[in-house]
Amino acid sequence: MSEIKKICCIGAGYVGGPTMAMIAAKCPGIDVSVVDINEARIAAWNSDTLPIYEPGLDELVIGARGKNLFFSTDVDAAIVDADIIFVSVGTPTKTYGMGAGKAADLCYIEGAARMIAKVAKGPKIIVEKSTIPVRTAEAIKTILEANSEEGTFQVLSNPEFLAEGTAIDDMSDPDRILIGGDPSDEGQAAVAALASVYGTWIPDDRIIRTNLWSSELSKLVANAFLAQRISSINSISALCEKTEADVDEVANAIGMDSRIGSKFLKASVGFGGSCFQKDLLNLVYLSGHFGLPEVANYWQAVIDMNEWQKERFSAKVVQTLFNTVRGKKIGIWGFAFKKDTNDTRESAAIYVCRDLLMEGANIAIYDPKVGAEQVYADLEYLGMERAKLEKQITFCDSCEEAASEAHGVAVLTEWGEFKTVDFEKIYEGMFKPAFLFDGRNIIDAELVREVGFDFYSIGKG
Ligand code: NAD
Ligand code: UGA
Repeated sequence: MSEIKKICCIGAGYVGGPTMAMIAAKCPGIDVSVVDINEARIAAWNSDTLPIYEPGLDELVIGARGKNLFFSTDVDAAIVDADIIFVSVGTPTKTYGMGAGKAADLCYIEGAARMIAKVAKGPKIIVEKSTIPVRTAEAIKTILEANSEEGTFQVLSNPEFLAEGTAIDDMSDPDRILIGGDPSDEGQAAVAALASVYGTWIPDDRIIRTNLWSSELSKLVANAFLAQRISSINSISALCEKTEADVDEVANAIGMDSRIGSKFLKASVGFGGSCFQKDLLNLVYLSGHFGLPEVANYWQAVIDMNEWQKERFSAKVVQTLFNTVRGKKIGIWGFAFKKDTNDTRESAAIYVCRDLLMEGANIAIYDPKVGAEQVYADLEYLGMERAKLEKQITFCDSCEEAASEAHGVAVLTEWGEFKTVDFEKIYEGMFKPAFLFDGRNIIDAELVREVGFDFYSIGKG
């Protein structure tokens, strides 16, 4: 394949939008079109209010949009023009049929492959950017070849490792770029073409080339290992609470062993986000599918620990508030699954709020980036009735408002502003005794205890 001039990305979500904005910014000679079937999402990408909150993203998009970065719903036209087509559609956990609750739902991947096959002419490089089960490239290739009259295709795996909230830094200076391709000359030429795009700003020794299956599997395994670290430290947080050990001190002590490392050892109310749980479930499903129940059980335990941590937190709130929260107001600080994102997918806050609402609490939510409709949608998805939710939930514009006349406050997202609020003022406005439950271990315990709070922080004896 000659020099890459045009790139198309199918799927304008949390991955497609930011990754393509980065390629457009770094490669002014390449035209990048991001396409989606969701008209509202594309309209938002073309507006002043992007559909995704991510530090640094606005500047990146505004700098390239209309020059060499385009957002459109005309999927066919973008496919026809492109040399490389990234597929960055969702791969959620299946909710129906075989493998429901575990396997990845590949309907959007198949839909994208069929759209490509229908209109593509000439040679195209198809890049799996979505996270998919190992050996999906085989299925994509079969669909493309069976349905295309004029296209020829090389399928590559190029999983994305960015984390939300730090996506721009992660993409500008990644630990590595992973590209898996077919060992044939054509396959390796496609790998080289994609590597040349990344090579514009990423040193070649950080671009790893592997076979397709290693690349596909490595993405699931990377997320599984990261999630495993959080479940490991969260399991120890419970032991710390029984023994007066301090989980932050333990994490610091073990993390200084360079073989263990200090990152991803922050105990919390549980990991959330759209990928860890789904990718772990997928790994569990694949292991079972390949007749390896011991492997499946091993990784299932990481998910189980995360579920327990969320339940343990909700139970702690209820027990501490004298075993009943019925009719009590509880302030919720933060609903997003982590700071610096408006994404709430699988956020621990959804489950903690669900539990407290089921116990009859009235909750007052403040999150700087998450609005009421998103919260309602997340709780309705768990089967809760909108009318009841409207009675039990209020939405607030500040931490102070959420805590006003509350019996307790639960910190569920580590937004920076929660560390620096005026705790004396918050305490004054609350019911006594006033309880603060820190699900993120970001609040200064000494300070708030001095103010008068009864304080709970995960993994502190
Ligand atoms: P998302 O739901 O935000 O975006 C997916 C988009 O694809 C949606 O806007 C949807 O309308 C669109 N789409 C679906 N079918 C389409 C079709 N046939 N044609 C055009 N558009 C179509 O999802 P996301 O968070 O961007 O994740 C995408 C993939 O990337 C997933 O496989 C995920 O596991 C993986 N991933 C996500 C992250 C992350 O931080 N969110 C990081 C690394 C990898
Ligand atoms: C994660 C991975 O970090 C990315 O490398 C990967 O590309 C992405 O999944 C994906 O495949 O989608 P993300 O989910 O965006 O990224 O965010 P993380 O920073 O990994 O946080 C996930 C959850 O774990 C959050 O709820 C966070 O608060 C929690 N967490 C993280 C902890 O509880 N403790 C920690 O030490 C770190």
